[in-house]
Amino acid sequence: MKVLLIGSEGQVGQELKRVLIEPLRVVGLSRQQLDLSNLDQIYPTVVEHRPDWVINAAAYTAVDQAEREPELASQINAQAPAILAKAAAACNAAMVHLSTDYVFDGAQGRPYIETDSPCPMNCYGKSKLAGEVAVQQANPHHLIVRTAWVYGSHGKSNFVKTMLRLGAEREIIKVVSDQIGAPTWAKDIALTVAHMINLPVSKTAGIYHYTNSGVISWYDFAIAIFAEAIHLGLLTKAPEVIPITTADYPTLARRPANSALSCTKITELLGHYPPYWRESLRKMLSELV
Ligand SMILES: NC(=O)c1ccc[n+]([C@@H]2O[C@H](COP(=O)([O-])OP(=O)(O)OC[C@H]3O[C@@H](n4cnc5c(N)ncnc54)[C@H](OP(=O)(O)O)[C@@H]3O)[C@@H](O)[C@H]2O)c1
Repeated sequence: MKVLLIGSEGQVGQELKRVLIEPLRVVGLSRQQLDLSNLDQIYPTVVEHRPDWVINAAAYTAVDQAEREPELASQINAQAPAILAKAAAACNAAMVHLSTDYVFDGAQGRPYIETDSPCPMNCYGKSKLAGEVAVQQANPHHLIVRTAWVYGSHGKSNFVKTMLRLGAEREIIKVVSDQIGAPTWAKDIALTVAHMINLPVSKTAGIYHYTNSGVISWYDFAIAIFAEAIHLGLLTKAPEVIPITTADYPTLARRPANSALSCTKITELLGHYPPYWRESLRKMLSELV
């Protein structure tokens, strides 16, 4: 089975490269090899590779910057996935497309299930929702996996790496405590995708929520990162962490207050719960030792 992995150098893309192993034949394409802003290149590139699966791990993920560049965010997150899905369909290939908890506004007060109505509150979330709709329309054989608060040891930057850097530099750090979600290790996402593409897509096609288990605030997450980092010897001491509100930390993009995703559907499909967030955090940090 041949897998065409788009966005192979992102956090999830790099983990996918590691976990998708033989007998799968995996061709990874970085931004340099396929720039999704060149829409004309997408279809011929996919068709040339004749894949059985197209996995789209590429995205415009700069949530605040998307408020300034909504057209570019829409091009990468909606128009490009539409063409990827269409090209996959032309090859009789199925498609995995990653999406986000930010398709919801976080006002519901209970974890979101896959059939809840999306209501994104920022340009990034709107572009990702448009991508989901486009993929669904272009290719019936799709797995759309919404995840959240992604971090990993590979790829550019993320909250965990930022906390480790700031923790080494500063005595005091202020972190938002009124946004709730589920930190999710990129490797767990990759392992889940690897599991899903081995199941018959005629039976599994649809939208799934996948995050690590447990729901916390960014403040709780920062406290845990420092505790685990000290335990592993990555930091010698923790900074003082001061909880602040979203109102105290204005950003260009508004973010959902509670975007927890229910993972019941994917738990039933895979036969096990997603790993608890703290276990995964510990494993990721131990990769940095
Ligand atoms: N990160 C999160 O917290 C989060 C939360 C919820 C959902 N998600 C979703 O999960 C998926 C994977 O996210 P991630 O955390 O792995 O993101 P990431 O680390 O930002 O990786 C995204 C990849 O897409 C590439 N990319 C950006 N623009 C591109 C373009 N024009 N053409 C080709 N490639 C391009 C990036 O290349 P460069 O490295 O060159 O920029 C990067 O390699 C995405 O669908 C994202 O929306 C992420």
